[in-house]
Amino acid sequence: MKFTKPLLVLAMASLSLAACARYNGEDRGKPMMPNQVNAKWQAECSGCHMAYPPGLLPAASWKKIMSGLDKHFGTDASLSPADTAEISAFLVANPSNRWSSSAAPLRTTESEWFRVKHGEISAAVFARASVKSKSNCVACHSGAANGDFDDRTIPK
Ligand code: HEC
Ligand code: HEC
Repeated sequence: MKFTKPLLVLAMASLSLAACARYNGEDRGKPMMPNQVNAKWQAECSGCHMAYPPGLLPAASWKKIMSGLDKHFGTDASLSPADTAEISAFLVANPSNRWSSSAAPLRTTESEWFRVKHGEISAAVFARASVKSKSNCVACHSGAANGDFDDRTIPK
């Protein structure tokens, strides 16, 4: 039985390698939040959830999200054409660099990248009353609204 542990480590290493291959694999130090934050984005995109930092998704994802605000995850989040264009320009100018250029997920939480980062957290934990949804980043990352995901605590 003395080979069990190294084998397990090897199996885990190859699993995470396989998972990593689908996104760029490196968090190349790009901040989630740019220094200059757009005021309209801050005001209009934080009404129902925290304003998700632009660095969470690639530009193609932001384009899709901003062109479908009237059917936004089961709600109507539509804005005037001028506000939509301004916010869209801000998001598209500050995208994630963690993706291959063809990736365009609508949700951070359905991405390979999110699964890699949260592989150890069970569905039951995400379903807790104190969390409710994977998308509720602030439940565990107190600095999430500022683009800071370094601090994390899993609420009981
Ligand atoms: C009327 C309410 C409402 C407004 C306003 C709103 N959203 Fe949402 N948004 C939602 C709901 C509901 C979800 C799904 C949340 C969940 O599944 O827990 C969501 C999810 C998202 C997600 C996916 C989160 C994930 O799982 O990774 C993104 C990205 C997003 N919204 C961006 C935006 C942007 C950008 C704006 C501003 C233009 C915006 N939202 C404004 C209701 C809203
Ligand atoms: C149930 C709690 C929980 C929720 C909800 C959650 N996270 Fe996490 N997150 C964690 C934990 C715990 C870790 C650390 C995992 C590890 O190191 O094994 C983590 C790691 C991360 C990391 C990696 C940080 C680093 O230093 O490498 C990022 C980025 C991240 N989460 C983003 C998000 C985003 C974006 C959301 C919402 C869309 C979210 N998380 C929702 C608990 C959570």
